[in-house]
Amino acid sequence: MKVKQLQLKNYRNYELLDLTFNDGLTILTGENAQGKTNLLEAIFLLSMAKSHRTNHDNELIRWGESYAQVEATIETKNYDFPLSLSFGPKGKIAKVNYIEQAKLSHFIGKLNVVLFAPEDLQLIKGSPSLRRKFLDSELGQSHPVYLQALLDYNRILKQRNRYLKENGYKKQFDQVYFDVITDQLIEKAVEIITYRIEFVEALDELARPIHKSLSNQRDILSLEYKSSTSKLDYEQLDTLDQQFHRLYENSLEREKERGVTAYGPHRDDLYFALNEKDAQNFASQGQQRTIVLSLKLAEIEWLNNRIGEYPILLLDDVLSELDDNRQHILMSQIEGKVQTFLTTATIKGLNLTQLEHAQILYVEDGQITEEGE
Ligand SMILES: Nc1ncnc2c1ncn2[C@@H]1O[C@H](COP(=O)(O)OP(=O)(O)OP(=O)(O)O)[C@@H](O)[C@H]1O
Ligand SMILES: [Mg+2]
Repeated sequence: MKVKQLQLKNYRNYELLDLTFNDGLTILTGENAQGKTNLLEAIFLLSMAKSHRTNHDNELIRWGESYAQVEATIETKNYDFPLSLSFGPKGKIAKVNYIEQAKLSHFIGKLNVVLFAPEDLQLIKGSPSLRRKFLDSELGQSHPVYLQALLDYNRILKQRNRYLKENGYKKQFDQVYFDVITDQLIEKAVEIITYRIEFVEALDELARPIHKSLSNQRDILSLEYKSSTSKLDYEQLDTLDQQFHRLYENSLEREKERGVTAYGPHRDDLYFALNEKDAQNFASQGQQRTIVLSLKLAEIEWLNNRIGEYPILLLDDVLSELDDNRQHILMSQIEGKVQTFLTTATIKGLNLTQLEHAQILYVEDGQITEEGE
């Protein structure tokens, strides 16, 4: 799929912007704090209905204004359609084909993007919650059913935790009510874990050869989805439901004491190994970058397998950090298939044959001029 046209109104430091993109590579260049990342963020918003940089939608509205709007025409193999997202006093309004969507989950994933930003390096060494967020956002934008299961799980988990906290120590603990919540939680937990495992196994297979070539055949990458407890065996998915029931029965007293649900997908993690060694402990900076890049490229292929269309790739300030060889492998992996937007402070750092055909946009203080204008 492609983003053909983009319009911004009162969004971040853009008062009004109307751009038409080409199908291949678009390069956004300019000094710091001019609006390069803001523009990538706008495209990301149209995919996830949420910024990758902030949880506060108000920050997206241009200072001094009361609403912001991001609109685009999306082109897919079969048809074109408009998407729009606006933020204002009435909150967030998401439209597909000019029709307001009652649920954001009906908007999310209409446009598929893969974003690679400097923060993503944290994926390897940062906290497990970042890796779960990665799994959730990738699965969420491609499987509406997953998104719904996740929302349900989080709601039930909150409810269960609240009950444990408020009543765990009381004599009149309502075991029947609590069992109903637990059953519901387990049903969603199994659904989420099943999706995640399938996704991680697919990524593992797709990322390995990409990673091998990016690391000059030196390093073998492997990925594994891991439970937070050895008491659950994810190799036996068909009995996971019973395993969870047993686990929750056995840990009830402890959960009551602590007032919190101790086990479940909200505690799980994604494990990266390089040559069978834990990457979280041993990967160098460069190796972390290569792992994340492999992961993103694998994701692109995975989305194409799943949806039948390549997603949009957004590269925020990451290309100039890669050596020529890896820049070249990256570009050849996506060339002719994936519409790509990349930001860079200077074009000089890029050693790309693709530059010749790229659309180059100069970003300055919320204004954009195109090369040749
Ligand atoms: N709501 C807003 N209203 C007006 N301006 C904003 C708003 N939010 C952010 N900005 C401006 O946008 C600027 C940041 O833009 P952006 O992050 O896109 O920079 P950049 O071009 O990617 O820079 P760098 O090269 O440093 O990454 C901030 O310095 C801020 O002045
Ligand atoms: Mg930036």
